Amino acid sequence: MHVDLLIRHAAQVVTPRGRGPLRGAAMGLLTVIPDGAVAVREGRIVAVGPTREIEAQITEAAEILEARGRAVVPGLVDPHTHLIWAGDRAAEFEQRLKGATYLEILQAGGGILATVRATRAASPEQLMAETRARMDRMLLHGTTTAEAKTGYGLEWETERRLLDLLHRLNAEHPLDLAPTFMGAHAIPAEYQEDPSAYVAVLIEEMLPAVAAWQLVHHGPWCPPWEDGRAAWFCDVFCERGAFDPEQTRRILEAAKALGFGLKVHVDEFEPPLGAVPLAVALRAVSVDHLVSTPPEHLEQLARSETIGVMLPGTSFGLGSTRYAPARRLIDAGGALALGTDLNPGTSWCESLPMMMALATRYMGLSPAEALTAVTLNAACAVGLGHEIGSLEPGKAADLVILEAPDYRHLAYRYGVSLVHTVIKRGRVVVEDGVLRIPGRQTVRE
Ligand code: NIG
Ligand code: FE
Repeated sequence: MHVDLLIRHAAQVVTPRGRGPLRGAAMGLLTVIPDGAVAVREGRIVAVGPTREIEAQITEAAEILEARGRAVVPGLVDPHTHLIWAGDRAAEFEQRLKGATYLEILQAGGGILATVRATRAASPEQLMAETRARMDRMLLHGTTTAEAKTGYGLEWETERRLLDLLHRLNAEHPLDLAPTFMGAHAIPAEYQEDPSAYVAVLIEEMLPAVAAWQLVHHGPWCPPWEDGRAAWFCDVFCERGAFDPEQTRRILEAAKALGFGLKVHVDEFEPPLGAVPLAVALRAVSVDHLVSTPPEHLEQLARSETIGVMLPGTSFGLGSTRYAPARRLIDAGGALALGTDLNPGTSWCESLPMMMALATRYMGLSPAEALTAVTLNAACAVGLGHEIGSLEPGKAADLVILEAPDYRHLAYRYGVSLVHTVIKRGRVVVEDGVLRIPGRQTVRE
């Protein structure tokens, strides 16, 4: 066999296995291959196994990477980000440290609405530059595919600009983006007196406009779902001060009728609004946050096809000691993924290994479960479990070589990057911890 790239003599090659999510106890079952190798041809994995066995099958390798002393894991997948926005909310962070709550700040016109003002006012160049810098940091921390929500426009013109820019960034950057329309992120200032009028605009105008837009841009986005459809989602923030369960249901039903996959922000704060059964009944691909979700709803979720996405960076970012009950979901047989929730309010963090560090300490996950949650299960939470999320023949050659001999270091150590090499579709895009993006000019000022 002739291959384009052979990674060999890794201290260990570590991966979950399958195309669908791992549930319950299976989340902890990783394959660990000492002195492992991965062979790649035309951007896809063609063989994984002990170096001796893989080398016996190979007649020629165009490029060889020696991974001695280093562990190899699948490219990480971030299933929940609010990637594109302008500006920052450092002043609000300081207000929160002094005792103001997140929902109080939102109700006073700050929070998401402050970022909406900054985003509407920003030039496309500014939005591109700020978002590109975040994508670079994600790649440097091992993320090779990420979901990316709109939701800081809250009017068609700006929401469409965000979709256009995400589309351009996806095309120019090695990181693959799975786009989510989140016009239902907050009630915009101009509809504060009449939220139901905004819900009507979302259902009657914006969702059909997004559906029409995606028909035009179907091609260059990230790989299609298993059934061939483009990976597109619609998400709603179901919370006090945002959208109530009845509004959420109407928006999601309209999105589903237009062919969107569904995601829902549920039970991030107290009191839980009880939207998990609604999301499960609508066969949402994922329900996200789940901090205050009652046990009976977690059990219902565990019995469903819907994946629970938990976001420990948000608890940490808000200075809360309350983390989502991951153990209960897994022990009930559910499928869990972890994301960063990358956003300027509750969790400005591009690093999935940081989420693994938090989830192992505060949510009771084992390092193996945490790795499954940011690889295969996260891939399934964006509809791409058939394409990415594990190191198996046939899947895209997205993988990370760690500056550590054992995958558990990803959760064990924190606050620094242990990523040595990132390979996206068979091409090295991070080398020795430094970005290597083809065509990117580095201009120093
Ligand atoms: O997931 N909760 C809604 N959205 C984000 C926060 C966005 C923001 O504060 O800008 C979240 O926590
Ligand atoms: Fe979020």
